[in-house]
Amino acid sequence: MGPGPSPVHPRVLRAMSTPLVGHLDPAFVELMDDVQDLLRYTFRTENQWTIPVSGTGSAAMEAAFGNVVEPGDTVLVPTNGYFGGRMASMVERAGGEVVEVDAPWGEPLDPAAVQDAFDTHQPDVFGFVHAETSTGVLQPNVPELTDIAHSHDALVVADTVTSLGGVELKVDEWDVDVAYSGAQKCLSCPPGASPLTLNDRAMEKVLSREEESRSWYLDLSLLEGYWGEERSYHHTAPITNVYALREALRLVAEEGIEERWARHERVAGALKAGVEAMGLEMNAPDEYWLPSLNAVRVPEGVDDGAVIDHVLEKYDLEIASGLGDLEGDIFRIGCMGHGARAENVTLLLGALADALEEQGYEADAGAALAAARDQL
Ligand SMILES: Cc1ncc(COP(=O)(O)O)c(C=O)c1O
Repeated sequence: MGPGPSPVHPRVLRAMSTPLVGHLDPAFVELMDDVQDLLRYTFRTENQWTIPVSGTGSAAMEAAFGNVVEPGDTVLVPTNGYFGGRMASMVERAGGEVVEVDAPWGEPLDPAAVQDAFDTHQPDVFGFVHAETSTGVLQPNVPELTDIAHSHDALVVADTVTSLGGVELKVDEWDVDVAYSGAQKCLSCPPGASPLTLNDRAMEKVLSREEESRSWYLDLSLLEGYWGEERSYHHTAPITNVYALREALRLVAEEGIEERWARHERVAGALKAGVEAMGLEMNAPDEYWLPSLNAVRVPEGVDDGAVIDHVLEKYDLEIASGLGDLEGDIFRIGCMGHGARAENVTLLLGALADALEEQGYEADAGAALAAARDQL
């Protein structure tokens, strides 16, 4: 129940014990097709350029920015969480110039502020975080943001690390040009092969770059040789991670993507109702509450670190503290993928109430469980 990695489904663990075949073995090539189709299904896209990048979410993130951003490009990034800062760092390394659109940590971007930033800076690329793991904020109004960007001929890169497979995300319908993600959040897969999708508009820019991407490993024009029609060697794919990802994505398809979004909302909704019945407050209002990462305010006088230690030591449950501007202010409670289950919410609420009581906070575990049960 932390911010990821989330619990891995037993079927995915089993898939990881499958004997290895070569990365160009016909059986593996077939499996690559499956993974790409299943990723398209999960991202809700028809994008041909849809691949698992070898590495964790940051590798997919760097593949996105390192290919789409050319030296001299101006790139607009958000300041409302930890991962906007990482975007800025990657953009600078790619030779881009960073400009910022501000919002406080714990709030989403306001489309009016994005519009102002576009009018002022005329960026070539706009990056935003759909589900900010550091603050528990879901960015609403995505189509409004992509419209602003496209009316200025800019490309949009979305960080969907904590939303893919858990929270409504429609890459094509929302006209997102590039989206990247991680395996270890709502897909409940070990980290190591990370989803990335680019539309033709974005790939046109990538394939007509004047200067090669600064990373050889993540250069999409070279990776095309392996993941495109040709299927020729670029680097040795992390075979076991690709097995795992296929199984995790099959689980998404079997459940149905919309049903999966609804499950996350229902189970996390029960968690939210439970903590509120205990007298705790969510950090994000309902309009931008992120079901996969619940930011709960630490009550006055409670030591957040002691609560986190207590639930880990006594209940073997992981939750996390706040970061950056929200350090000490919030607990971050994940409700992701295979972890988004009724029994986990029940255990979490009991454990949290116990830990808070240790700290002298009167937490009514009975009321919390009753409120949660009504939603499950
Ligand atoms: C929103 C977001 N973006 C990017 C990343 C980076 O992913 P990774 O840690 O898998 O490299 C994370 C990881 O937690 C994340 O939550």
